[in-house]
This record gives sequence, C-alpha cells and structure tokens, in this order.
Amino acid sequence: MNKKIYNNLFSRIAVILLAAGKSSRFSNKGNVLKQFTELEGKQIYRYSLDFFARYTDFNIFLVIPANYQNFLHKEKSIPKNLTIIEGGDTRNESVYKALLAIKKLHKNIDYCIIHDTARPFIETKILESIISNIENYPSITAGINVNDSIGYGKDNIIEKYIDRDNTYLIQTPQAFNFNILYDSYLEFISENKKINFTDDTSLVFHYKNIKPKIIDGSKILFKVTTYEDFLYAKFIIKEFYKGNYGN
Ligand code: CTP
Ligand code: MG
Repeated sequence: MNKKIYNNLFSRIAVILLAAGKSSRFSNKGNVLKQFTELEGKQIYRYSLDFFARYTDFNIFLVIPANYQNFLHKEKSIPKNLTIIEGGDTRNESVYKALLAIKKLHKNIDYCIIHDTARPFIETKILESIISNIENYPSITAGINVNDSIGYGKDNIIEKYIDRDNTYLIQTPQAFNFNILYDSYLEFISENKKINFTDDTSLVFHYKNIKPKIIDGSKILFKVTTYEDFLYAKFIIKEFYKGNYGN
C-alpha cells in the first residue's frame, strides 16, 4: 500500500481493536481468554495490533477487559499510536466506550475501522479494499460466500431454505463514516441497549437503514470462537504461512 498517498487519510481514521470479550465459548477449562492465549509464540490479540500498528498514522484504540489494565506493562513494545481503554459487558458496549474515547481525544476523525482481535489473520489486501472504499461507502464489511446449504428454523426443524447465492458470512474488519456510526450508537444507547448486535454493520443498518458494501474477506479471516478454531489457527500458521505469519 502506498503509505505516502494515504497518510492524510490514515490520520483521519480511528481503528478500534476489540479484545474485551469473555471467551465463554472458547474453553471449559476455566477463565482462559482466547484473545490473550499464545498462538505460536504470540498472544492472539497481538496479531491484529501488530498488523494495524505498522500504519503509524492510524489512531488505534485497543479495548481490553476492565481487570487487564496493567497487562501491557509486560509487553516488549507498545506502539506509539495506541490508546488502551476498558471495554464493557457486551461487544456493543465495548465499541461504544471506544467511540466515546475517540470523540474525547480526537477532533479530526472522519472514519472508523473496527476489527475483532479474535480474528488474527487479517491481510494487507483486505485493509487495502477497505481503505479504497472508505470515502465512498458509509458502512463496509469484509464478507465471504457460503459453501453449505442454508436453512432457517428453530428447535432442530428447518422452516425455510435460503438461496445460498445471496448470502454472506459477515466478518471484520468493518469500516464506517465516524459520525454515522457514532449517531447510530447514540440511538442504540438511548433505547437502553435492548438488542444485541453481533457486528456493527447490522447496528448501523437497524438505526440508519444503510446497506453495507461488502468487500472480499477470506476463509482465514475466521474468528477464533471455540478451542477447535484455535487448533485450526495453529494449523494455518504452520501449513499456510509456513510459520512466518506476523513475525
Ligand atoms: N468483545 C469485546 N467486548 C465484549 C465482547 C466481545 O471487545 N464485551 C470482542 C471480543 O474480544 C472479540 C470480538 O469482540 O474480539 C468478537 O466477539 P466474540 O468472538 O463473541 O468473543 P467473546 O464475546 O469473547 O466470546 P463469547 O461470545 O464466546 O463469550
Ligand atoms: Mg461474544
């Protein structure tokens, strides 16, 4: 990516890296937080942090759990463009807290990129697609097509089938016009957080009726959710990246 051309744009982008979740689906072995679990010599959250920190004009906000304030003291290198903040009880609350921090610290932010640090394998070409669309679309998400048939139903009975060709799996990173995202969150908070949105394009769609632009995500952009996903992540580093990812 041509950093020089983009410098002016990058300094107007805030990047929210989410690492404040409770990992309840990850392990039954106690309180292992997946984002701080070592994956081939590096904690999972750090893959995303190192990736985004390479672009020194970004304003990066890492959102961590409330009882983790001191955890970075042990880290070897803390990027200069990083602000660490405490998250909330839900993903939506963690994003909202980050938005408040951005609003307080920066006057010149026009765009916001949000990424789950539970997705360690973000690649340059995906960030490039986001950046090249960020000025033209108020809401953008990485997404991929679905390979299996899709049924909709409940209690183990399918009630209808959904045309697979018109479905997407929604990933992160996602990107937004900052004011639209912020306004959507103010509406969300004023409604007393009744709905749980599992990503931010769905929240912006709900409050602003804005249809997100989908850019090509990737299968390896998967989210580490269960322990099997963690084993798969290990395999990806060894076999797909031949041990060289993020070193
Ligand atoms: N996240 C967050 N704050 C929360 C909840 C989630 O910052 N209160 C972050 C997670 O750290 C993760 C991303 O949002 O990077 C996606 O969430 P998910 O995969 O659901 O992680 P957890 O909520 O930690 O997992 P679980 O739902 O199994 O408890
Ligand atoms: Mg969750």
